[in-house]
Amino acid sequence: MIRKAESKDLARIAEILVCNYRLYFYPIFQSDEYYFSELQVPAIMKDLETALESLYVYDDGVVKGFIKIEGTYIARLYVEPVLQNAAIGSQLLEYAVNEHHADHLWALEKNVKAIRFYERHGFVATGEKKLEEGTTEYLILMRKMKDIGDIFKCDLKDMPVVNNIYQLTDAPDLVTSGDGDKYIGYEHIGGAYSGNMKYSIWEGDALFADHLAEVTGDGIFLDLACGDGCFTVPCAKHGTRIIAGDISNGMLTILQERAKRNDVSLENVTLCRMNALEIPLKDESVDCVVANSMLHLISNPQKVLDEIYRVLKPGGRFLCLSDAPARKGTAISEYEKENAEYSRVVGEIYDTYWEELKAYDVHAKRYSWKFDRESACKAMFREVENKVIERGWPYTGRLVDKFLPRFEGRGFSDQVDVPPEIHKAVSDKVVASAREKYGEAFENIAYHGIVEDLVITSYVK
Ligand SMILES: C[S@@+](CC[C@H](N)C(=O)[O-])C[C@H]1O[C@@H](n2cnc3c(N)ncnc32)[C@H](O)[C@@H]1O
Repeated sequence: MIRKAESKDLARIAEILVCNYRLYFYPIFQSDEYYFSELQVPAIMKDLETALESLYVYDDGVVKGFIKIEGTYIARLYVEPVLQNAAIGSQLLEYAVNEHHADHLWALEKNVKAIRFYERHGFVATGEKKLEEGTTEYLILMRKMKDIGDIFKCDLKDMPVVNNIYQLTDAPDLVTSGDGDKYIGYEHIGGAYSGNMKYSIWEGDALFADHLAEVTGDGIFLDLACGDGCFTVPCAKHGTRIIAGDISNGMLTILQERAKRNDVSLENVTLCRMNALEIPLKDESVDCVVANSMLHLISNPQKVLDEIYRVLKPGGRFLCLSDAPARKGTAISEYEKENAEYSRVVGEIYDTYWEELKAYDVHAKRYSWKFDRESACKAMFREVENKVIERGWPYTGRLVDKFLPRFEGRGFSDQVDVPPEIHKAVSDKVVASAREKYGEAFENIAYHGIVEDLVITSYVK
């Protein structure tokens, strides 16, 4: 059993400490003076006398190991060397984690055996180091990784799962009327959102994902309204622990397929159908949040922002891509004619579509709620930082790559209310007449642009 140490235990504790120090640290530090002269049981007993409050022993009739816990810091953990590999250290460590919420410690960098032991118990090196006082050897800071299940408000084990996606809300996919909050989920859009590009990893998204992985470190990244996973998938490549949440199971399913086709493991990704208006996570539980391209789809974006703020840890970051550089980027002048043709065809298809729909008494209703995200965030967060990632490479986007699949898939937000059968009849007709006018290959008409630099704004809690 593990119990609080008493004065009578001090001699055993000191013995265990001395044996371990000689066995594991003498070969590293090689100091005869310290290890065989200063380091003696009576001296150690004297040192530990004042620390009894923080000492706990493993005692099954004989004291075989001990741990020193200061708040949530594990200051020492030693087991009698001849009794190691009997799970005594594991029990002491689990006791510290479970009963005292112990979550960090310093380990000697060269003590590989100890480091592996802590790793097996979910501790990871944070990258922070310091010199062991009076020596040239480094200590490394290790922290306990939170179990992802611990940060959910509910017990994941009790929640329904569909296609490996936890179902954490029963809110509808789409709400466009009524007195409550409205939002445009993309269940009805699905694969049409990213068209032909839905399974690719785009260069710009990968750059942003690299940054997200760096910022998150060994913490947790919440990709809120992650959609088809344009950031989750490249970020998962780094092994980052991610909670990918969206109101649409269909979008999350495309995310899974995108990962599969790019050979990216989702082992560290927890997929959840969730409502951004009520994030099912505990307060101060995540390190980084992205909610890209979604606040305008919610009638009450401030409520989502309040939720983001609530779940972020102090010092955590809400990362936003600049709204300014549209995906279209800067036009390349030598393609002026083709770019103009691209814009003309898009305009014609769209205008004709809405014109034709009038005959069915269907009219465009744009669901997009204006929101000054920048001012709202500045009022809430402690700090704002900007980072620019240079890009500037040329790209070509054909009608068939994004515009056409999205248009035909009823994927623009003003198409939400168009009844699916009417949409199909009218969009088929409009696309057929464009084909007749511009020729069979009109789908290949392309826009040629230069992608703009990525501007990432971090709001720090
Ligand atoms: C324009 S997409 C953006 C997807 C992705 N973040 C990106 O940058 O490509 C918007 C996403 O928000 C999701 N969404 C809309 N309302 C939501 C809500 N209340 N809760 C969670 N997700 C929501 C949609 O289902 C859709 O996948």
